[in-house]
Amino acid sequence: MTMEKVRVRIPASTANLGPGFDSLGMALNLYAWIEMEEAETTRFHLYGDHMDGVPTDKTNLIYQVAQLVFNRAGVSVPELAISMYSDIPLTRGLGSSASAIVGALAAANALIGEPLSRQELFTMATELEKHPDNVGASLFGGIIASYWDGTRAEHLRIEPLPSLEVLVAIPAFQLATEKARHALPDEVPMKDAVFNVGHSSVLVAALCTGRYDVIRHAMQDALHQPYRAPLIPGMQAILAQAVDHGALGVALSGAGPTLLALVDAGSSRKRELEQFLLDTLGAEGIAATTLCLKPDLAGVCVLTEDDGKRTFIETIKGEVRA
Ligand code: HSE
Repeated sequence: MTMEKVRVRIPASTANLGPGFDSLGMALNLYAWIEMEEAETTRFHLYGDHMDGVPTDKTNLIYQVAQLVFNRAGVSVPELAISMYSDIPLTRGLGSSASAIVGALAAANALIGEPLSRQELFTMATELEKHPDNVGASLFGGIIASYWDGTRAEHLRIEPLPSLEVLVAIPAFQLATEKARHALPDEVPMKDAVFNVGHSSVLVAALCTGRYDVIRHAMQDALHQPYRAPLIPGMQAILAQAVDHGALGVALSGAGPTLLALVDAGSSRKRELEQFLLDTLGAEGIAATTLCLKPDLAGVCVLTEDDGKRTFIETIKGEVRA
């Protein structure tokens, strides 16, 4: 039996956090919303500036992922009305595709009375995305440490301190994850693997214990950022110098091109840091937008019935970023 209509809100995410390649992720308070209901004929309403090229037929990712949920649960809901609005820029390293997958899974599951557990949704999301860091963060919120061994997706959630803020610089060009993954070698030297095991371990311990003073060193990476640097002019200088401009730590956000600096909410150097990011990218001829974000703590949310009385756009109005 299906519910009449469901709405979900899904956070953006950043992956890797430096050394935690394909394993660490953090949800961010930048959102997409999906509305789903059973319909006579499948139709789509896509709103906002980040929907260019998104298909409006049954090849649509949200439609297809919803059908996976229905198949898994043994129900048939062949026709859907789907609406989507997103503030998450596409192909910039902020988990837009993961947010669509997680939103589709959560909405479809809610539509049929939530027969699947969050863990089942996590495994399905990871099978689709092939790495658990973005989808895990969007599903569970906060910071997640995770792995995917091809069969099992495992995660533990870390609660960020309320003082943690995330300054992102989003370059005005797109970088497909596939291209950024192709830049990586098939094999890496043992010393680089050891470097990352140590740094990622200390980073996780620092995040768990609130020792944010050691993040600046622990966020260093030898497995993916050095290989991706040629794709993002200015990135190397930012990674090397952002901590001298007030960042707690700095990394490429996911596969890029967005750069991410962790910062203490009480820092008096946030403007300096923002200007440094913009100036460094600008010196390479790269225009960028900055956003000061917070970790999202909730993960994907099925919105309450009260919201059902308002239209989709009324529900998200007031929550969207200007
Ligand atoms: N961990 C992934 C990568 C995130 O760095 O390629 C991108 O989706």
